Amino acid sequence: MTKTYVIQGGTDGIGAAVARALFLRGDHAVILGTNPEKAAPLLREAAGAPGSADFVRADLSLVSNTRQTVSDLLEAYPRIDGLVLCARFFRTYRSVTSEGFEDNFALFYLSRALLSYGLLPSFDKSDGAVIINAAGPGHDTPIDWDDLQSARNYDGVRAMFMTGRLNDLHGVTFAERHADRASYVLFHPGTTSTGFVGEFDRPTAAYIEQQKLLSKPATDVVPPILRLLDDPPEEPLSAFNMYNELSIRSPLFSPASAARLEDITAQLLDDVAK
Ligand SMILES: NC(=O)c1ccc[n+]([C@@H]2O[C@H](COP(=O)([O-])OP(=O)(O)OC[C@H]3O[C@@H](n4cnc5c(N)ncnc54)[C@H](OP(=O)(O)O)[C@@H]3O)[C@@H](O)[C@H]2O)c1
Repeated sequence: MTKTYVIQGGTDGIGAAVARALFLRGDHAVILGTNPEKAAPLLREAAGAPGSADFVRADLSLVSNTRQTVSDLLEAYPRIDGLVLCARFFRTYRSVTSEGFEDNFALFYLSRALLSYGLLPSFDKSDGAVIINAAGPGHDTPIDWDDLQSARNYDGVRAMFMTGRLNDLHGVTFAERHADRASYVLFHPGTTSTGFVGEFDRPTAAYIEQQKLLSKPATDVVPPILRLLDDPPEEPLSAFNMYNELSIRSPLFSPASAARLEDITAQLLDDVAK
């Protein structure tokens, strides 16, 4: 049976490599991103493949767009078998969305939480849905609870790592609440040569170019992700760095911190007009 997978950030890097692998093996890949020019070659390739692909264009740094996308996806795909979360946009300089959220916090954290919870009705129709949240599980960057959106002393790398920790905690709450509805896998791909989309100052851009030359291709990350989609761990929450399972029995995955984040997030989302 053809399965349907939603790939957030599926136009580039790891997300694009996963989307391609899915339609090449006969599944349906729903590619989310902002750039139709990047989606076009994937859609052309999918047209001649055993599987298929759709592109859904959406700027997911806006909560309103993510909510609309969730509602469109639920209508178009009553059954969704997996969600692969890969969208991020690095910024050397802090930027705030028109809804008032720090950009990285909005895209890398809020949109992932909204998609994970929002697509539950379609996960329920699957025989074992899986969410793979590609970020950096287990990183020990401290969470600045008084400044989750890095308004003071913004540093792009720190903001990205701290938001990664919010994804870890979101996984803890999701698994507590919805263990019977989807497996939640936190996934670390390790340094990988990808699109690295973002706005970088010159030294960071030079560093990124060097990293791209030195690191593995995105296709190397596809087999461990497919393995987790096809045969997820039995535990409701797990974490992997490629094939290696990481422990989630540490204070970094504290249920109390996860609950605290959930309360803050619910309040922030409530304040965005529906
Ligand atoms: N690459 C690495 O070395 C590395 C290391 C550790 C963890 N990771 C994690 O792995 C995941 C994938 O990384 P990657 O390096 O493959 O990413 P990437 O090549 O930089 O691609 C990022 C994706 O995010 C999408 N995106 C950016 N802004 C968006 C927006 N506002 N709305 C919707 N989509 C948006 C882009 O689509 P458009 O261009 O179409 O907007 C693109 O498809 C990320 O979560 C990252 O944190 C990567």
